[in-house]
Amino acid sequence: SSTKGENENVLVGVIGGSGLYHLNNLTILKETNPETPWGYPSSPITICALPSGTKVAFLARHGPGHTIPPSAVPSRANIAALKSLGVRAILAFSAVGSLREEIAPGDFVLPTQIIDRTKGVRPASFFEGTSVVAHAAFGDPFANRLVRWLETRVQKVLDNASPDEYAVSGKKPVLHTNKCIVCMEGPQFSTRAESKMYRMWGGDIINMSVLPEAKLAREAELGYALIATVTDYDSWREGESVVTAAEVFKTLHANAKLSRHVAASVLDDLNAEATQGDLLTEEQGSMKFSIMPRS
Ligand code: ADE
Repeated sequence: SSTKGENENVLVGVIGGSGLYHLNNLTILKETNPETPWGYPSSPITICALPSGTKVAFLARHGPGHTIPPSAVPSRANIAALKSLGVRAILAFSAVGSLREEIAPGDFVLPTQIIDRTKGVRPASFFEGTSVVAHAAFGDPFANRLVRWLETRVQKVLDNASPDEYAVSGKKPVLHTNKCIVCMEGPQFSTRAESKMYRMWGGDIINMSVLPEAKLAREAELGYALIATVTDYDSWREGESVVTAAEVFKTLHANAKLSRHVAASVLDDLNAEATQGDLLTEEQGSMKFSIMPRS
């Protein structure tokens, strides 16, 4: 690739969503803003040292001051820029709405499936405009080995969380696994009818940001997992008020401490694991079988 980033030997990239614009307890080593063939990433990328000394790269999806709406996030540049730094797997964070009674605001979700309800306005492939016809396998849209590993780690953090960290509902947050996320275009939230339809389709949570990020990570052969934090009940509940941006941001704010705690503890363990095991390499070589042969 002609991306001008230097390989920084950073194995893990973190994409922060709404409310997660920086990480905790990390030493900032440098900031870099690599230009890619798809332009510049959403924000300069911060290379941070974990307490153990290993490095992670952090990128704020909506820009440092939250100025980029979901439909305009430069996902190709974001993924290409992270890859150019040496990143092998991406841990993405996102605020989501809940489509299920048992998934409450304040809870965490590690989804394993996606329903695409974006409207085709987001560039979603690195092969667009090239002479290569490629169809990446996307039946399992997340890096399942990484997701399974995260399940035990996130659960541990939630088990040990203190009451001042789960201020949203006053109860210990629950981790939900094997869930399906609907990714909608926005920027408006769903109607009540759409919200009910997504439930019938099998959707469990909803956001505006997991796509095309997850698709591009797959094309770049990077592992990708999403840690979703629930902010609201969307608009499907009879007799209840519908989701508003104010509600989302209020919950995010109340949730911020715990989200940072989850990010920090997971990252330290992950990097230790990554340098030895094969946790981050499950997508490597996957595109080999995705390019259509020329006849
Ligand atoms: N992000 C957070 N809550 C959401 C919702 N209800 N719908 C879409 N995206 C969201």
